[in-house]
Amino acid sequence: MSEPNFPLVIVETDPAEADALLGRLSMSGAECVETRDATTLTKGGPRGVTLVASFSDEALAREALADLGPSVEARLEFVVGDAWRDGWKEHWKPTRITSSVVVVPSWTEYEPLPGDLLLRFDPGRAFGTGQHPSTTLAAQMVERQTLSGRHKLLLDLGCGSGILAFVALLHGLPGAIACDIDQESVESAVENAAMLGFAERIDLRVGGFDAVPETSSLVAANIEAGVLVPNAAAVASKVAPGGVLILSGILATQRAMLTDAYVAQGMTLADVAGEGDWIAMEFHRP
Ligand SMILES: C[S@@+](CC[C@H](N)C(=O)[O-])C[C@H]1O[C@@H](n2cnc3c(N)ncnc32)[C@H](O)[C@@H]1O
Repeated sequence: MSEPNFPLVIVETDPAEADALLGRLSMSGAECVETRDATTLTKGGPRGVTLVASFSDEALAREALADLGPSVEARLEFVVGDAWRDGWKEHWKPTRITSSVVVVPSWTEYEPLPGDLLLRFDPGRAFGTGQHPSTTLAAQMVERQTLSGRHKLLLDLGCGSGILAFVALLHGLPGAIACDIDQESVESAVENAAMLGFAERIDLRVGGFDAVPETSSLVAANIEAGVLVPNAAAVASKVAPGGVLILSGILATQRAMLTDAYVAQGMTLADVAGEGDWIAMEFHRP
């Protein structure tokens, strides 16, 4: 039997352009995009950053390559066999994502410091290992809101591995409803919820914003701006009066666009936190 063949779009760029190109690759349907630069184990190319975007099929990869246009230095490559898909596990180490929560891969040991809360799980191929600033920024806002004691239920839209909901549940929030359009992510979140003992407190659903018709005083969505802006009405409608909306997956350059979209939905901007080129935004509904 022949081995599976996975298409990759490889982009060579400089640090100033990297985040914008990463966003474009995600919008073109990349399943995941690995960033290689001076700080990663596998270094970036001669221009400083190499983005490696994986696609589920060749046609989609070719379309993404064409969308990038001739001004972007990009090429199509294939990897054969699927052992590489789990290669990231070698590099995923325990990661402190908030002042008290440490994400610990299920297969590693970690000696907690006093006061540490451990999230021991295996996200599989779902987004949400705690390594990306969009996750840590959102997790810190979710933690702060949970600790305020004002909320009973988190709606986690675009839950990926379930990491944001798990942070809230770990801090004692009574319940969460989470959705993702990616079935594999939801399956992984279901398994991890069971492993963490949260199965009774989280309702995980495959689907987009329609899959969660409920409203709540606490809503989080770490999804790229390209989804959050056109769906502002649907996302904002889930926030109860007096409630809080945490948005992440946003580049600092997109701040005004997000502000305009959510202020138009009757929300006020209450806080912005940033790391590198990424920001998370907290909106309140009066
Ligand atoms: C950046 S990841 C965030 C995962 C996790 N919440 C975290 O903070 O690490 C975004 C997730 O949103 C999902 N997604 C994208 N568009 C969506 C939509 N319209 N409705 C629900 N989920 C969506 C993707 O499949 C992906 O798992």
